[in-house]
Amino acid sequence: MTFANRIAHLKPEGAYAVLARAQALESQGRDIIHLEIGQPDFETYPHITLAGIRAIAEGKTRYNPPAGVSEFRQVLADDAGARRGVKIHPEQVVVAPGTKPLLLFPLMALISPGDEVIYPDPGFPTYEAAIRLVGATAVPVGLSEERDYDLDLASFDAALSARTRMIILNSPSNPTGSVLSLETLTHVAEAARRLDCWVLSDEIYFRLVYDGESLSIVSLPGMLERTILADGFSKTYAMTGWRLGFGVMPEPVAEKLALLITHSTGCTATFTQYAGIEAVVAPQDDVDRVREEFRQRRALIVQGLNAIPGVRCPMPPGAFYVFPNVEAFGRPARELSDYLLDEAGVAVLPGTDFGASGEGHLRLSYANSQENIRIALERMAHALAKLG
Ligand SMILES: Cc1ncc(COP(=O)(O)O)c(C=O)c1O
Repeated sequence: MTFANRIAHLKPEGAYAVLARAQALESQGRDIIHLEIGQPDFETYPHITLAGIRAIAEGKTRYNPPAGVSEFRQVLADDAGARRGVKIHPEQVVVAPGTKPLLLFPLMALISPGDEVIYPDPGFPTYEAAIRLVGATAVPVGLSEERDYDLDLASFDAALSARTRMIILNSPSNPTGSVLSLETLTHVAEAARRLDCWVLSDEIYFRLVYDGESLSIVSLPGMLERTILADGFSKTYAMTGWRLGFGVMPEPVAEKLALLITHSTGCTATFTQYAGIEAVVAPQDDVDRVREEFRQRRALIVQGLNAIPGVRCPMPPGAFYVFPNVEAFGRPARELSDYLLDEAGVAVLPGTDFGASGEGHLRLSYANSQENIRIALERMAHALAKLG
């Protein structure tokens, strides 16, 4: 079979590959603790689910405009704007089935073959996949472990060129849990203005910050005009399977994205958007409660990992991931993650699933119960001790 060149580089997300291996072991009777999956281990909050069911019963089951239900776009404009201290108009908001389309469609709309797009490495694998899908050159920029996995500004400056058309940011970050500092955002914003290029800011973990406040590049002067902000409901409201995301962008870009949606997904499920309205306008107690639970798990997992000889784990300020350094074991990260799955029954991801710079690291998700995290840490300590 012959496939088009444009998809030759695509590969599955590492988390799905490890999940499949873990499930194969489970089917043989092994007890596996899952720390590989990046989704909240909570059910969607009941009032949101009920709003979705109510919307179906009320017949909100038909097509709606490609950019989204107007009431929802208004609610999102107000909420996203208030949280970032900027005025957003509903015409700047585009709703999509998940945040992922808001990573691909802006590239399709704004980037041409031969353009260069900068993205974080280690970073969410969809960035590189999407850049290459549109025929652009993917230019990775490393994160600096010494600066708590903030962007390495020297590498960033070296990566810029006259062909740079877009800079992708992700804060808080998957896989490191790091948050970009104001210094970094200011530096990137200056570069974007100087080179007259776009910023695609993936802020899906914006509400999951434990120390200090989330910062968005759109809050900096002049940046709302050149930024596509991507956000969604998967992580904040435990709605991964509902497929609900939104983007904020200049109106002319929003119009082009609406066309891309028209000719691809058509629109986002109507009742899902009504569940989304409920999620945003109702009291945010569940979001706050879950954030506090994640905060406790973060302390537990960071402390437990640092107690294992050979493991060094900084305290990440956001998301629900830790990215410990395991270079001391002198083995490739993939070999180590395979070993932990086979030997300890703990599923984790090698840092290299997020780019070459992830070597020497593992990514663990703490979207699992404190009890399971404790057991996983014990098993890991035991298995890693055998490696000496
Ligand atoms: C950084 C980042 N961006 C985007 C997504 C995709 O989210 P969604 O489920 O809304 O498509 C994820 C999901 O893991 C993510 O970690």
